[in-house]
Amino acid sequence: MTTSTGLSSPPALPSFFSYQQDQLTLEGVSLGQLAQEHGTPLFVYSQAAMLDALGAYQRGLAGRHHLICYAMKANSSLAILNTLVQAGCGLDIVSGGELERALAVGVEPGKIIFSGVGKTRAEMRQALKVGIGCFNVESRAELDVLDEVAREMGVRAPVSVRVNPNVDAQTHPYISTGLKGNKFGIAHEDVVSTYRHAAQCQGLRVVGIDCHIGSQITQTGPYLDAMDRVLDLVESIEAAGVRIEHIDFGGGLGIDYQGDNPPQADALWSALLQRLDARGFGDRKICIEPGRSLVGNAGVCLTEVLYLKPGEQKNFLIVDAAMNDLPRPAMYQAFHRIVPVTARRSEAPTTWDVVGPVCESGDWIGRDRALAVQSGDLLAVLSAGAYCMSMASNYNTRGRAAEVLVNGDKAHLIRARESTADQTRLERLP
Ligand code: LLP
Repeated sequence: MTTSTGLSSPPALPSFFSYQQDQLTLEGVSLGQLAQEHGTPLFVYSQAAMLDALGAYQRGLAGRHHLICYAMKANSSLAILNTLVQAGCGLDIVSGGELERALAVGVEPGKIIFSGVGKTRAEMRQALKVGIGCFNVESRAELDVLDEVAREMGVRAPVSVRVNPNVDAQTHPYISTGLKGNKFGIAHEDVVSTYRHAAQCQGLRVVGIDCHIGSQITQTGPYLDAMDRVLDLVESIEAAGVRIEHIDFGGGLGIDYQGDNPPQADALWSALLQRLDARGFGDRKICIEPGRSLVGNAGVCLTEVLYLKPGEQKNFLIVDAAMNDLPRPAMYQAFHRIVPVTARRSEAPTTWDVVGPVCESGDWIGRDRALAVQSGDLLAVLSAGAYCMSMASNYNTRGRAAEVLVNGDKAHLIRARESTADQTRLERLP
């Protein structure tokens, strides 16, 4: 951010971040000191920020029969799962691996929801064995396989059908999931017949209905549209004699990356509950699957400036974090704010493309950023709590970053930096 004097003004920061004597802190803990202690790239998360984000949902749904299942794909580090589970969350999972992580932090199996279009038989067995709360089924073929697997095991699988409400979430096409052209959910017109069929399967027990229309949604309108469509379906399904105990509205609420202004979770839910009540469904159990909005703005990625490379057309700032640590810019042209860990307030900023060391032109973290920096400085990539570490890779044989969780004045290393030995452990020479 450049002022008329050419000097940098304090950037907008998410809650729990602040500059203290020009040093960026999280819950008052110096991020520069954490980088010194643990090296970079380093993810740092605030427990208070996560609990604060969760609090908005809990307030919004207070007094209702509800279950908040954190969509752990957003960040599945055990310490983060543990934080949210201890605070009362269930978990939304999408693989056998996520199920194992969920069980490792001791979540009640009945508070696990299993989403995703491609569950294998082995994953179904694994989930049925521990008694998860619900399978969100995405196709007729999956429903039939689940029925078969459950019958073989002599149990009934609790199911919801994920419906595709065909509403436009007005978000990036890769993370929009509720439109007809998406691979997700069962088309509106096939939903009632699917429920009729499910109700007759000996291996299934219908418990709910589910929808999820996309991610990084910043408006209330698409949620209200989806709710209306889902409630229309509940009316038709129940008219066909199948009772729907819970309604799962998925996740998707956006966060502020770049001056985005999504509704607060409590305001969103007050609008949605009004609609639910008006349509006579206020007594139903409500399930939700938020991911990004619980953890996204609770985390940063700290990175060190390696080289300044001014050029004729572009100035490049080469940092030690890369697309393998922060895949969102390369994958979705996503914007993350980048701020200095130590503010150089008296120096005029230059415009830089902040890029990583990976051998790809797509390896950029931020474009055209005004920053006053020198080599060796630390930068903080903001809004990095969701879909960064959980999507990180080992491309270029780069070890995945370490992670720290700050809680009050304490900082815990919750994941050690990955070594090359960790990466080659499973490899063999023929
Ligand atoms: N439920 C289902 C069925 C989902 O597919 C997702 C996210 C969620 C819940 C959680 O959505 P959230 O509250 O986090 O928006 N990697 C992308 C986001 C992919 C979202 C996939 N599904 C990104 O970095 O923007």
